[in-house]
Amino acid sequence: MIYWRCKRPCLWAGFDSLCSLSAKKVQELKQMKKTKNGNEKVSNKNEAKKNGGGKFGKKVITLEKDEIPTHFYNVLADLPFQLDPPTGDLSILPKIFPKAILGQEMATERFIPIPDEVRELYALNGRPTPLQRAEKLEKAIGTTCRIYFKREDTTTTGSHKQNTAFAQAYYISKEGYKNVATETGAGQWGSALALACNHFGLHLKVFMVKCSYDQKPGRKTVMKFYNAEIVPSPSNETKIGRELQKKFPGTSGSLGMAIAEAIEVAKEREDTVYSLGSVLNHVLLHQTIIGQEVKKQLEKIGEKADVIIGCVGGGSNFGGIALPFIPDKLKGADIELIGVEPREVPSITAGPYKYDYGDTGKQTPLLKMHSLGADFVPPAIHAGGLRYHGMAPIISALVVHNLAKAESYSEEECFKAAKLFAETESIIPAPESSHAIKGAIEAAKRYKNKTIVFNLSGHGLLDLASYEKALHL
Ligand SMILES: Cc1ncc(COP(=O)(O)O)c(C=O)c1O
Repeated sequence: MIYWRCKRPCLWAGFDSLCSLSAKKVQELKQMKKTKNGNEKVSNKNEAKKNGGGKFGKKVITLEKDEIPTHFYNVLADLPFQLDPPTGDLSILPKIFPKAILGQEMATERFIPIPDEVRELYALNGRPTPLQRAEKLEKAIGTTCRIYFKREDTTTTGSHKQNTAFAQAYYISKEGYKNVATETGAGQWGSALALACNHFGLHLKVFMVKCSYDQKPGRKTVMKFYNAEIVPSPSNETKIGRELQKKFPGTSGSLGMAIAEAIEVAKEREDTVYSLGSVLNHVLLHQTIIGQEVKKQLEKIGEKADVIIGCVGGGSNFGGIALPFIPDKLKGADIELIGVEPREVPSITAGPYKYDYGDTGKQTPLLKMHSLGADFVPPAIHAGGLRYHGMAPIISALVVHNLAKAESYSEEECFKAAKLFAETESIIPAPESSHAIKGAIEAAKRYKNKTIVFNLSGHGLLDLASYEKALHL
């Protein structure tokens, strides 16, 4: 048996799923050292429980491995309205998606069990993630609000993307496929899916948006570590890639273009399926483990969320943290759900709510969503994961029905927020996550005595060249 000690606070990993046991054992041993008799030990333990996990339990709220959610939460079962269904040519869907994923895309049941193997992969790769209080940031901006952030940055590949990557790769491998095609913006999704595909012995081809391919060499290395094949998009490998290069000469690429190339590959090969890292219902469904954990963590310290914030590219990490709070909101709880997008790619705040294609190649069915148009090519901002013309149909509909709202900030404003966050809370956030930080700071300035929770969707340790350039470091 091999064990190793993780550098991340309060997280243990090991084979045989014994990690949480080991952590518990160590905690008990430490406790025994400090106390003289059993009674004292018991009362200290109760105190620790009450505080959400010991001396630091109100600042770093952790969960045990066996508290990883057992089900994905399907918000569609609770919404007081129906989503407008996809239209156009739906015949492509069974050609590119595995059956289980298509089933989840249309699912109506409230809870969908998470396979044990997927839960184990979550446990071995950083889940449950801590919820942390940003006291120094609060002090720096002089707010009376309490700000908490969910640390999706502490997962193995450093973002929330592996929550759906493990689930999708599991279903794909169970249906006997051997090859997967996908797109990636900043490379976070590509890294997560590469890790998951490598685990299940699947070959992964990643179309990486050209400007990110040049801006983020570290993410390419991560994907290569896990044996993925990476192609800068638009490429000469697909018909659509060649057409897009003719239509937009010298283009920096976009998620819409990379999606189009990956879909073309999956459409044309029997043994290949397509995997999407955001936007669709099943992706948001898998991400709901984030919000379910947050609810438990807040309960542990007797807090109730007033404001929930996430950055939005395609809408999956925001959906992941926010959707489990929808039932409370529908019962009358006063909770604000805010998605923060780049001012440079303002899909929700400036894009009409309409039927549009999910990809620039216009191969997908039409989705009812906020969209800047499938032909929109976003400027080459550093938050590559937010360079998408559309928005998840679920998030779009929540905004239309006043259950969620959206804000937009410029990259410059968000990067300043990222710098302040690193100076106060020590963590260098992903450029995408810096939008959530900016949103949280603005909410904290706007309100008094509220509990604000934002999703730190990823770390920025492989985005340093972007920060160096934009912040003139
Ligand atoms: C760290 C991080 N946060 C957020 C996003 C945006 O995606 P989504 O809106 O689906 O969460 C990405 C996308 O690549 C990302 O890498």
